[in-house]
Amino acid sequence: MYRVTLIPGDGIGPSIMEAAVEVVEATGVKFEWDTRLAGMAAVEKFDTPIPFETIESIRERKLAFKGPLTTPVGGGFRSVNVALRQEFELFANVRPAISYEGLNNRYNNVNIVTVRENTEGLYSGVEHFIKGDGKVIAAESISIITRAGSERVIRYAFDYARQNKRKRVTLVHKANILKCTTGLFLEIGKEMAKEYPDIEFKDRIIDACAMEMVMNPEVYDVIVTMNLFGDILSDLAAGLVGGLGLTAGANIGKGAALFEAVHGSAPDIAGKNIANPVAVIMAGAMMLEHLGELDAAKKIDRAVRDVIKENKFVTPDLNKASKIGTKEMGTEIARRVRG
Ligand code: NAI
Ligand code: MG
Repeated sequence: MYRVTLIPGDGIGPSIMEAAVEVVEATGVKFEWDTRLAGMAAVEKFDTPIPFETIESIRERKLAFKGPLTTPVGGGFRSVNVALRQEFELFANVRPAISYEGLNNRYNNVNIVTVRENTEGLYSGVEHFIKGDGKVIAAESISIITRAGSERVIRYAFDYARQNKRKRVTLVHKANILKCTTGLFLEIGKEMAKEYPDIEFKDRIIDACAMEMVMNPEVYDVIVTMNLFGDILSDLAAGLVGGLGLTAGANIGKGAALFEAVHGSAPDIAGKNIANPVAVIMAGAMMLEHLGELDAAKKIDRAVRDVIKENKFVTPDLNKASKIGTKEMGTEIARRVRG
């Protein structure tokens, strides 16, 4: 029995999370869900988007399954995602981008997992303006790369590759120009690669990597990179396989692990029963994989891929003529998971 904090989220969140829970439970793996609020739903009840009791629940369980949250505009609220990242040191953002058969995408051979460092680099938050003559004359952002921060995310990428029987880790950097920061990241990667002789190690410069990912995406397997590069490349990879409604991500930390879709709360389609539940269902599969429940994760992956390929029990974003809703698609996937 796994104890998990369940955050239904805002907008389309509650309906897609209901479908995802149905599918995850269909594997037979036992879960005890502790449902907690965050985002706008929490602002209405607790006057904060990230209530203390939600944080405490995650701290105790160390696992969270999270629907998309609407970011409150104004009111001085801090970003929930940033708050959770800091609170639980969610240092690795893991995003698989694997082609789905039956979709009209440019490629059908993409199988890339991006492991993005999620706490340092140019997103460390050390930024300021420099003023002169009563106006801003310059601005500076400082990129911070630490040995400890680099080691933990690169080790995670190698271990992930090994556990998931992947062959190659490519470290992406810009060490020809940013010699200190990205150079340190690269040096640590090279040292660490010696501990993993069973995994092929390569490095690529970010700009060359972006071009190659579009021209020959099949040469990439696991990618490990710094915060800014990873932010961009993981969206690029998601775009290669069909984008938003299908892509899931895991945030792996020292204090907890949190699984979610890449997309947001989609207020424009909320309440219409047409949101595609696949991204959060795949996030559920990632959670099972993280727990070592590999058979259960595979069953979900198989069922989702079959349903998408057949193009019948799918929401209208995947088949314009379809009358199938969020709930019906979730139930069909769950039925196939049960076998
Ligand atoms: P969004 O991802 O919610 O929507 C972008 C477009 O994609 C919309 O047209 C939407 O209808 C469509 N879409 C998204 N998910 C879909 C799904 N599962 N099935 C079918 N269509 C789908 O991005 P947007 O509109 O920029 O943001 C809305 C809210 O979500 C904002 O408050 C934003 O801050 C928040 N957000 C939260 C995230 C999180 O909690 N991890 C991530 C991204 C945005
Ligand atoms: Mg991003």
